[in-house]
Amino acid sequence: MDLGLSGKVAVITGGSSGIGLGVAERMAAEGAEVVICARREDVLKGAIAQVAERTGKIIAGLSIDVTEPAEVDRLRDEVMRLHGRVDILINNAGTGIYKPFLDVTEDDLVGGMQLNFFAQFRVAQRFVPIMQKARSGSIVNISGCSGLMVLDPPFLSTCTGPAKAAEIRFTKALAAEVGPSGIRVNCIVPNFVVAPERFERWRNSMGGGSRTSSEIQEEWGARITLPGKRWCTIDEIASTILFVASPASSYTHGSVIVVDGGYGRD
Ligand SMILES: NC(=O)c1ccc[n+]([C@@H]2O[C@H](COP(=O)([O-])OP(=O)(O)OC[C@H]3O[C@@H](n4cnc5c(N)ncnc54)[C@H](OP(=O)(O)O)[C@@H]3O)[C@@H](O)[C@H]2O)c1
Repeated sequence: MDLGLSGKVAVITGGSSGIGLGVAERMAAEGAEVVICARREDVLKGAIAQVAERTGKIIAGLSIDVTEPAEVDRLRDEVMRLHGRVDILINNAGTGIYKPFLDVTEDDLVGGMQLNFFAQFRVAQRFVPIMQKARSGSIVNISGCSGLMVLDPPFLSTCTGPAKAAEIRFTKALAAEVGPSGIRVNCIVPNFVVAPERFERWRNSMGGGSRTSSEIQEEWGARITLPGKRWCTIDEIASTILFVASPASSYTHGSVIVVDGGYGRD
């Protein structure tokens, strides 16, 4: 299936690792002009090299902190300087804090909202005027299942869940407001995706490396109903994101698409 991504300009926040990097690679392979951003320069360089090696395509990488309004301005300005337009925004940079309720600090609470909801809002606000002028664009906000349902164990949800829920509500409201000017806005809701860097952070936040990755995957994935209760791969979640971002899904708008292997059954 031709997704119609060739020549499209796609901006991916948090594109240097995990899901964002998977999407960057697949978009580049489809012929899109990709700009990724993240904070760490060395990781960005590694991501650009990986995409070039696997796809033969050179993508752009900008060292930007999406929680800083002035840096988000710079992201928009650099994308316009490089390409003069933007067709696709993947609002992916985000994180999860996984601690029992009473252990959550003020920094965890505020930082979670800053990086998840506030940053998505802010990045979209910079790019929507450009898309409105073009009367065309596709925004995909990446949320997470804790924003829709209580996960097991429940400590996965109290801090991160509300920030991820805000991203879902934001998607719906923005879709209603900017849809008439030709901009599609959708939300992808992954559950457990095997993203190595994030996985190490999960393990560390739970008191270090005493349990193996497969033990944690087995415990957290107990409600998954696909064979083997396996977690989602980067490539599987990237496939859904690419389709929703692309012109191939032209009637998908204001949608919340859950990719959870059957974890949530209601
Ligand atoms: N993996 C999962 O199981 C899962 C499940 C549900 C939802 N999600 C959601 O999917 C998205 C991607 O998650 P992931 O697992 O792929 O994460 P990841 O592997 O940790 O990658 C996060 C990316 O975001 C960048 N980033 C973090 N803070 C940033 C900031 N302040 N400004 C700019 N970039 C920043 C990171 O680079 P730097 O650190 O260098 O900035 C990195 O490129 C997130 O929104 C996450 O909540 C993931």
